[in-house]
Amino acid sequence: MLRRFCLRCARASAVILSQPSSSQTARWQQFDSLPSLELTACHFILESAARAIATRGFFSIVLSGGNAPRHVYRALCAAQTDWSVWHVYFGDERCLPADDPERNSHMAHTVWLDHVAIPSAQIHSIRGESGPDAAAASYVRELAVLGEFDLVLLGLGEDGHTASLFPGGGWEQTANLPAAIPVYDAPKPPPLRVSLSPGRLSHALQVLFLVSGNEKKQAVANWRAGVEIPASRILPTDGVDIFLYA
Ligand code: 6PG
Repeated sequence: MLRRFCLRCARASAVILSQPSSSQTARWQQFDSLPSLELTACHFILESAARAIATRGFFSIVLSGGNAPRHVYRALCAAQTDWSVWHVYFGDERCLPADDPERNSHMAHTVWLDHVAIPSAQIHSIRGESGPDAAAASYVRELAVLGEFDLVLLGLGEDGHTASLFPGGGWEQTANLPAAIPVYDAPKPPPLRVSLSPGRLSHALQVLFLVSGNEKKQAVANWRAGVEIPASRILPTDGVDIFLYA
């Protein structure tokens, strides 16, 4: 059912290729309902996993925080896949206690990760509870042994942020950022966070943005018009896919 519905959904939405910034290739898919976006996203993830497992024997996925992916994660509980070779990372994390419901890892565990057989050692949480600097440094070490991610999931904030890369952050003027960076002044609470850098988020075979909500309309319009926003700084070799319901 999942497969048939997803393929029909994918056909229901127009795929528009755009070059919003100087070097980002973006494939936009506009959906006419949130459930169709979520089911198609679930299918996209499982296709990416099947391809990676068939070619490399394992699948590395970076999870997005926020609310947009919640129902997608929940739908993955029913997936038929070899969970034993999934490796889960996080694109950002809020510096809160590990069991705080506002943690991105807490949401993913509650709706999905605690309900499937991914080995706990293969769920690579960002230790936000240790504070931005220590958590970022620890995650840099953890990522050092990994090459390209197979799939990175990202959201979009109404100010154009993605992960915890907010407009006006110090990261924008810094070259050669490490894979993970501390964030001290996030305008979206909580202020203390850790984020993967644009470069590390771009070091991926596929990047899928899940964007929903009318409040994102201006950020989407800016993005499509080529106005540089943090999301347009994500530049994987094969471009990004953007599933939109707004
Ligand atoms: C976070 C997320 C953040 C999120 C966007 C969109 O920690 O909040 O990483 O980047 O993806 O703010 O959030 P929604 O999907 O809830 O709109």
